[in-house]
Amino acid sequence: MKLGKFITLEGIDGAGKSTQLDFLATVLCARGVTVTVTREPGGTPLGERLRDLLLDQSTAMHPETEALLMFAARREHLDKVIIPALNNGNWVISDRFTDASFAYQGGGRGLNWEKLVVLEKWVQDTLQPDLTFYFDVPVELGRKRVSALKTLDRFEQEQQDFFQRVRDAYLTRARQFPARIQIIDARQSVDEVNAAVEKTLDRIFMQASL
Ligand code: TYD
Repeated sequence: MKLGKFITLEGIDGAGKSTQLDFLATVLCARGVTVTVTREPGGTPLGERLRDLLLDQSTAMHPETEALLMFAARREHLDKVIIPALNNGNWVISDRFTDASFAYQGGGRGLNWEKLVVLEKWVQDTLQPDLTFYFDVPVELGRKRVSALKTLDRFEQEQQDFFQRVRDAYLTRARQFPARIQIIDARQSVDEVNAAVEKTLDRIFMQASL
């Protein structure tokens, strides 16, 4: 039985979700919650090997292969990490989950949305995050933050129009699931985004316990 809560963080590259992930984990730990922090693609030994292939600039693949590998890694992640942790009463925070497949493979690569719905149902059945933070930034700002930070991986090297489609798909997904996906304006300073995250966390889980 699922006892813990499942929280996911989403956004285009450069939205600042890694900083917020650390903040969220710290806030929850301070409240006495046992937290399992993980990420996608990855989170298991096999998933991390798939991640290496998926992010490697020199590994070209068909967009459907890319989607299938994302969901293969996810199947393993659910089985080995997410479901056992939730059953154990831990709260799971995942840096990305299925909304990223809709945004990047559906929006960015233009894959058929219905095929992704089939994969989602196949791999997750009815399991969905309890809460998803979507950190929204304009594409230009995300691009600026990423290129200042590191060498670019296979996704980060994509062009502006790719990220515009990714952002649009995230927003479509957020409109489709407004109770689960909370949009955070990530143009703000780190402190302001932290405050918005904590407020949203309280609002959602206080409502749930009423
Ligand atoms: P990211 O989470 O941004 O890691 P880092 O902060 O270390 O760069 O990198 C993962 C990349 O994988 C990101 O560009 C989005 C992409 N991705 C997909 O395309 N589909 C998916 O389903 C997932 C989970 C990630």
